[in-house]
Amino acid sequence: MPSKKITIAIDGYSSCGKSTFAKAIAKEYGYIFIDSGAMYRAVTLYALNRGAVTVGKSVDAAKVVALLPAIKIGFQFNANVGRFETILNGEVVEDAIRTIDVSNLVSPVSAIGQVREQMVALQQVMGKEKGIVMDGRDIGTVVFPDAELKIFMTADPKVRAMRRFKELQEKGDNTTLEAIEANVRSRDHMDETRDISPLRRADDALILDNGNMTPAEQMVWVKEIMNKL
Ligand code: DC
Repeated sequence: MPSKKITIAIDGYSSCGKSTFAKAIAKEYGYIFIDSGAMYRAVTLYALNRGAVTVGKSVDAAKVVALLPAIKIGFQFNANVGRFETILNGEVVEDAIRTIDVSNLVSPVSAIGQVREQMVALQQVMGKEKGIVMDGRDIGTVVFPDAELKIFMTADPKVRAMRRFKELQEKGDNTTLEAIEANVRSRDHMDETRDISPLRRADDALILDNGNMTPAEQMVWVKEIMNKL
């Protein structure tokens, strides 16, 4: 493992297990984990609750931007449940930001330039100290272009939809597999084709296709790389 703490940027398609992998790496190396997607989800949830975006996929960008000064986002470890939780204006929103409504609206919200500017600035402050693993779509390309380790994760959309389906079912959410697969595919498309910071692999990012890999195999993969840094 590197003698000095480094920055690890993990990007890739939605529902690839980026956060799960990033959390496992953070635990292994005693690094801080930041889920940048949760930040865009928190903005979306706030905008949804204030009527700036609606479930029919209408997004009023001007209204969302006007709400930004009222939005404070942070992360906190909850020892009772053993997980990092997203905090929106002092309230735990970890589950509320993962509903299908938020998932369907988050891509257009995250495509708004001023939303991205604010989130990127906040992410850069959070990652000022090294020893951080951040996952998202533009971490290796925009947020931390100098990250010492960049990983780009991918997997077949059907595999990803099934993973998210199981996760939601465990939480008692009855969204169908078809609806989830449609969401995964449409988010891929929106994330890759948006004007600002579209999802793309940084030239120096290592590709990890984890469609047929267990979490343990992914850890073996990354440990080998870390050992060589
Ligand atoms: O990682 P996730 O699926 O929870 O992310 C939710 C959405 O946020 C995703 O559709 C794209 C957007 N996002 C982004 O634009 N940039 C990031 N760094 C992270 C997420």
